[in-house]
Amino acid sequence: MTSTVLTNIGELFTDPPTSHAALVIEGDTIAWLGPAAEAPAADAQVDLGGRAVLPGFVDSHSHLVFAGDRAPEFAARMAGESYAAGGIRTTVAATRAATDEQLTAHLARLVEEMRGQGTTTFETKSGYGLTVLDEARSLAVARLFTEETTFLGAHVVPPEYADDAAGYVALVTGAMLEAAAPHARWIDAFCETGAFDGDQARAVLEAGKAKGLRGRLHANQLGPGPGVRLAAELGLVAVDHCTYLEDADIDALRDSGTIATLLPGVEFSTRQPYPDARRLLDAGVRVAIASDCNPGSCFTSSMPFCIALAVREMGLTPTEALRAATLGGAEALDLHDRGVLAPGKRADLVVLDAPSHVHLAYRPGVPLAVQTWIGGRPV
Ligand code: NIG
Ligand code: FE
Repeated sequence: MTSTVLTNIGELFTDPPTSHAALVIEGDTIAWLGPAAEAPAADAQVDLGGRAVLPGFVDSHSHLVFAGDRAPEFAARMAGESYAAGGIRTTVAATRAATDEQLTAHLARLVEEMRGQGTTTFETKSGYGLTVLDEARSLAVARLFTEETTFLGAHVVPPEYADDAAGYVALVTGAMLEAAAPHARWIDAFCETGAFDGDQARAVLEAGKAKGLRGRLHANQLGPGPGVRLAAELGLVAVDHCTYLEDADIDALRDSGTIATLLPGVEFSTRQPYPDARRLLDAGVRVAIASDCNPGSCFTSSMPFCIALAVREMGLTPTEALRAATLGGAEALDLHDRGVLAPGKRADLVVLDAPSHVHLAYRPGVPLAVQTWIGGRPV
C-alpha cells in the first residue's frame, strides 16, 4: 500500500484545529496526523505551503437527477413572486422527456462541479420522474455516482393524478417503491401544504421501511406543519429544511436526536426567512448543513457558499458551520467512516487556498477549494 504525507499544513481542521501540521494517508485511509515536525516518512510527500486542510464536505441533501432550466422562475421570484411547490412539475415534464444518457451527462457535470468545490460525499434523490419507470431510472442513474440515493416518488402529485392523490400514494407505496428500492438506500417525502400531508408522508415512510429503506423527510419548509414531529416520532436520522419551527418541534428534535438538516441556499434563493441554527444548537439539537442543489428552490452545488450563509444568516460560528457541513452531513447519512480528520477515517479532504477554515465565510464566493481528495486520491 502506498503512503503519502501532506506536510506544511497551515491549519488542520481537527477539534480543536492544529497548526503547522502534517497528515499521512495510506491507501484510502488517514493513517496518522500531528505536528509536521513529527511526521513519519512516507512514499510520497506533498508540501501544502501553509494551506488549510479540512474534511471533505458531506452534502447530505441534493436533487441532481433532472433536466431543464427554471431560471425564469428564479427571476420572477426575485421580482416578487413567491416560491411554490408546483414549480416541480415543470422539471418533471423535462425530466420525463430526457434520455438516460442526457440525465447521466447532466448529473456528471454537477458532480464534477461539487467535487471542484470540495464535496467528497453526496446524497441525491429521484423525484422528478414520478412514474414507475422514471423514478427507477432516475435512481439507477444516481447510483452510477453515489451509494447515498433516495427514493422521492412522494415529491408532488403529478398532473395525471391531480384528482386522485390517494391513488398516487398507493402507486408510490406499491409498484413504484418495488421498482425503486433496488437502487435506493433511503426513502423521503415532501411533507408540506401543496405536496403530501402528515398521514401520507407516514404511509410512504412506513412502506419504505418495510422494504428495507431508511427514512428521511422534507419538512417545515414553506410553513409550520407536522413533518418535523413526525420525523422525530419515527426516529428518523435526519429531517431536512426545518425553516419554520415551533417550540414543540425543537423539543421533539432534541428528545429524538433527529438531526435538523438546514439548507440555507434555499432561503437565499426563495427569499424565505433563515431558520435560527443558533437556537437549535443551544437547545441541544444536532444540526447539519447541505446544499439542496435542485433546479427550483436552490440551484447551487457550493457547500462553501452554504457555510458562508449559515455563518452570516443563521448564527453559527465558522467552526460550527464547517462541522455541520462535514461531520453533521456524515451523521445525517449515518456514515461513521468520514466527516472528521482522524486516524482510521477515510482520507476525504479539501485543501483551501487559505490559512484557515474561517476564510470559507470570510471570503464568500471565492473559489478557495484548490484540491479535493476522495479515498486518498486527488480528484
Ligand atoms: O428541497 N422541497 C421540495 N423539493 C425541493 C425543491 C424542488 C423544486 O423546486 O424543484 C427542495 O426545495
Ligand atoms: Fe430538497
